[in-house]
Amino acid sequence: MRSAAWYGGNDRDAYLHRAWMRRGNPDTAFEGKQPQIVIINTASDLSPCNAHLNEVAQSVKDGIWAAGGVPYNLPMISPGETNVRPTAMLYRNIAAMATEEMIRANPVDGVVLLGGCDKTIPALLMGAASVNLPSIAISGGPMLNGTFRGNTLGCGTDVWKFSEDVRAGKMSQEDFTASEKSMIRSKGHCNTMGTASTMACMAEALGMTLPGLAGTPAADSRLLEMSHLTGRRIVEMVYEDLKPSDVMTRGSFLNAIVALAGIGGSTNAVVHLLAIAGRVGVDLTLDDFDEIGSHIPLLVNLQPAGKHLMEDLSRAGGLRAVLKELKGSLDSKAINVTGKPLVDSLEGAEIYDETVISRLAQPLQANAGIAILYGNLAPMGAVIKPAAASPSLLKHRGPAVVFESIEDFHARIDSLDLEVTKDSILVLRGCGPKGYPGMPEVSNMAIPKKLLEQGVTDLVRICDGRMSGTAYGTVVLHVAPEAAAGGPLGLVQNGDMIILDVEGRILSIDISDKELAKRSLPTSTSEAFAVPARGWERLYIDHVQQANLGADLDFLLGNSGSKVPRESH
Ligand code: FES
Repeated sequence: MRSAAWYGGNDRDAYLHRAWMRRGNPDTAFEGKQPQIVIINTASDLSPCNAHLNEVAQSVKDGIWAAGGVPYNLPMISPGETNVRPTAMLYRNIAAMATEEMIRANPVDGVVLLGGCDKTIPALLMGAASVNLPSIAISGGPMLNGTFRGNTLGCGTDVWKFSEDVRAGKMSQEDFTASEKSMIRSKGHCNTMGTASTMACMAEALGMTLPGLAGTPAADSRLLEMSHLTGRRIVEMVYEDLKPSDVMTRGSFLNAIVALAGIGGSTNAVVHLLAIAGRVGVDLTLDDFDEIGSHIPLLVNLQPAGKHLMEDLSRAGGLRAVLKELKGSLDSKAINVTGKPLVDSLEGAEIYDETVISRLAQPLQANAGIAILYGNLAPMGAVIKPAAASPSLLKHRGPAVVFESIEDFHARIDSLDLEVTKDSILVLRGCGPKGYPGMPEVSNMAIPKKLLEQGVTDLVRICDGRMSGTAYGTVVLHVAPEAAAGGPLGLVQNGDMIILDVEGRILSIDISDKELAKRSLPTSTSEAFAVPARGWERLYIDHVQQANLGADLDFLLGNSGSKVPRESH
C-alpha cells in the first residue's frame, strides 16, 4: 500500500510516522494490511449547508473500521455560498488545490470526499482527480422542504421571487422578513435544483458516489446508512485500485450531461464539469453540452424551473428513477464506484410520483438541456438555460442598456431616468473570472422597478458572470471571453442592437466587425472597486482560465499523481 512508504520498516522515519499516529490505534493499523483512508471533510459552522458533515464523517468512519480500514478526518477549506465574499467561486480552486495537496502529502491509500454546498463537491472532485488515488464522494443531502403560511418554500428561488414581489409592491416588507425564519427548515444544502443539488446529481451520474445517494435529505437516516456503506466501499476500492480516472471517463461526463438536462440542473454545472474534466484529462468542451444535452427532455419538475423540491424528488424515486427513463441516452460502458456500469445500478429504480418525475414519453419539455451561443459578442461561447427562460424572449432583438459593474447596476437600476423598456437587453460586465474576480452569481439582474410596475417579469439579460442555480429568467451567462479579458462584451454601448436567437445559437451585436474593431475598451467602472490584489486573489487573477474552459487555474490542469518521493526528516 502507498501508506507503507511512511509506516513500513524499522528505521527512524517509520518510527516517527507511526509513533505520532498511534493515539489508540492498534499495531495492525500500521502493518500494511489495513488501508489508510482520509475523509476530506468540509464541515464548517461558517458553511452552514455543510455543518452536519461531522455526523456523516462518523458514519463513514464506522464503515471504514468495519471493512478493515483505518479512518482519518481531515478538515478542508469550505467556501459557504451565502457568506463568503466577494464570491465563493473565488475559493473553489483554492479548496481544490488544498484537497489535492493534502491528499498527496499524507500517508493515505484511499479518499472519501464530504461536500454539500455549491463549490465544495466540485472542488473535492477536482482535487481528488488530480491525485488519482481511489476516491468516493458523499453529497451531504438537501434540507427538508420549507413552508411559509401553508405554502412550500424553496430556498434561494423564493428569496429571488419574494424580493421581486416586494419591489413590485405585491408583498409587504413585514411578510418578507417573516418568511426568513421559515426558509431553512433543517440541516443540509439548498433544497431546490440549485447548484448543490445539481452537483450532488452530477457526482452520482459521473459515477463517483454509491448509486441512490444523490438527493437523500440531510435529515434522512438513510444518508447515514449510505455513509456507512461508503466507508466500507472505499476500503474495497483500495484493494481493487479503482481510481477516479477509471470512473470519470468521457462516457461518464456525457452521462452527467444527460442527467443535467433531465433534472433541469444548474448552469453552474457547466463550469464545474469542464474543470473536473480538465483535472482528469478528459477532452470535454462547451459544445458537448449543447450537442448531447440540448436534445434530452426535462423530466424533473423542481424549482427553479418547476414546482417541487429535493425532498419530493427523493420521495418520487430519486436520480436513479430519472436516469432509468433516460437509459437509452446513457453510455452503457461508463462505470461507477461499484466497479460496474452505472446503467446496471438503475435496475429496480421506479418512479413513485409522476408529478415530480415525468415519464420519457410525456416530458415536461422536449429539448431541455443547456444551449451554447456564439457570435461576435461571445466568440468563445455563452450559456443559456432555455428551460428557465421565457419562451417569448428566446428570439429577441433589442437595444442594450449597459452596466459597468454590479455596483453600477445597483446604483442605477431603479432610477426613473434609466432609459429601459420591455424590449431592452440588460448588459452587465466586469463579472467574469478575472474581472470581479471569481465570477460571482450576479447575472440574474433584477428587473428595473419601473418595468416591474408595468407588469414586466422578464427581460433578456447578458453577463460574463454566473447565475445562482436557484434563479430563473432569460439570462445569457458565462460570456467568453469576459470583458476584463478583452472580450467584445466590453465594447457594447448603450443603444447597440443585440440579437439573441437561441434556436440559431446566436448571440451577436448588430454592428459590423469593422465598426467593432474601431471601438476601444472603456475603463471599466469595476476598476474603481478593485483593490490591488495580493495573495490568493493575485494568483487567481493571473492564472484563471475563461469560463468556457471551466475557470480553473492554468497550472492546475491535469494530474500530478500521488507520488511524493522525498522524506520530511
Ligand atoms: Fe449552500 Fe445553497 S447556500 S447549497
